[in-house]
Amino acid sequence: MSGTGLDMGPVLSVRGVSVRARKVERPLLDQISIDFAPRSLTALVGPSGCGKSTFVRTLNRMVELTPGLRVGGQVLYLGQDIYARNVNPVLVRRRIGMVFQRPTVFPISIFENAAFGLRLVHESNEEIDRAVAQALQRSGLWEEVKDRLDEPALSLSGGQQQRLCIARALAVRPKVILLDEPTSALDPAATQRVESTMETLKEDFVLILVTHNVGQAARVADRVAFLHSGRLIEVGPTADILERPKEALTEQFITGRFT
Ligand SMILES: Nc1ncnc2c1ncn2[C@@H]1O[C@H](COP(=O)(O)OP(=O)(O)OP(=O)(O)O)[C@@H](O)[C@H]1O
Ligand SMILES: [Mg+2]
Repeated sequence: MSGTGLDMGPVLSVRGVSVRARKVERPLLDQISIDFAPRSLTALVGPSGCGKSTFVRTLNRMVELTPGLRVGGQVLYLGQDIYARNVNPVLVRRRIGMVFQRPTVFPISIFENAAFGLRLVHESNEEIDRAVAQALQRSGLWEEVKDRLDEPALSLSGGQQQRLCIARALAVRPKVILLDEPTSALDPAATQRVESTMETLKEDFVLILVTHNVGQAARVADRVAFLHSGRLIEVGPTADILERPKEALTEQFITGRFT
């Protein structure tokens, strides 16, 4: 398995992925194929219920935590199928991290929140100190918390908590970070800080951002993918999709004719 960074192939390659729920005839996701290149930020947009959250959850096997869903097709991470029998989903989720809509901080200190995934794998204290500081710097939170690392994480603002969740994902050295509407619970100033963090992170990681906000996609994404009724309708460079979409459904969505 390649991981040298010299390989210019996709980091994630999604091939014919479908997701079905028991007793539901229409698939939640229908034969989706898309590649994600290194150092890129792809925004996933589409109407409520079109399958955006389900899709990102198939990319790190979180979908398996919901009983009754069946995944078909392949998700290749650096060429290896993450759904293969011998692959440990916990390791998949370290390499392909996730940040949710509501900050999911634990009622422990700021430091221990960022260190959480590293403690699980018994890294040395020295390594944890180094990795936590680096992750907090990369998430854009370090200057605000460096003198209060032992304080409860719940004492932070919502926007700071969200950047702490990004730091927690970064600390275990992922290659891909999935963000499912990470700013929809934040005010404009906090949203702006998370957006600028994402812009920095895309220099080093594959970011896949679910957003309801076409303006946000325009500001931060290199590429936009439009989903509708479980299908990938169109994907391309941000300006192409937002300004001159090829498909009528995309155009209707972009111009706000349905939500
Ligand atoms: N466990 C499940 N069983 C059956 N149907 C489900 C399940 N989870 C989600 N769905 C359905 O799958 C579809 C896609 O849901 P999903 O949450 O992925 O949409 P979404 O695009 O993220 O929507 P939103 O923008 O509102 O967050 C919806 O119709 C939803 O009702
Ligand atoms: Mg969703």
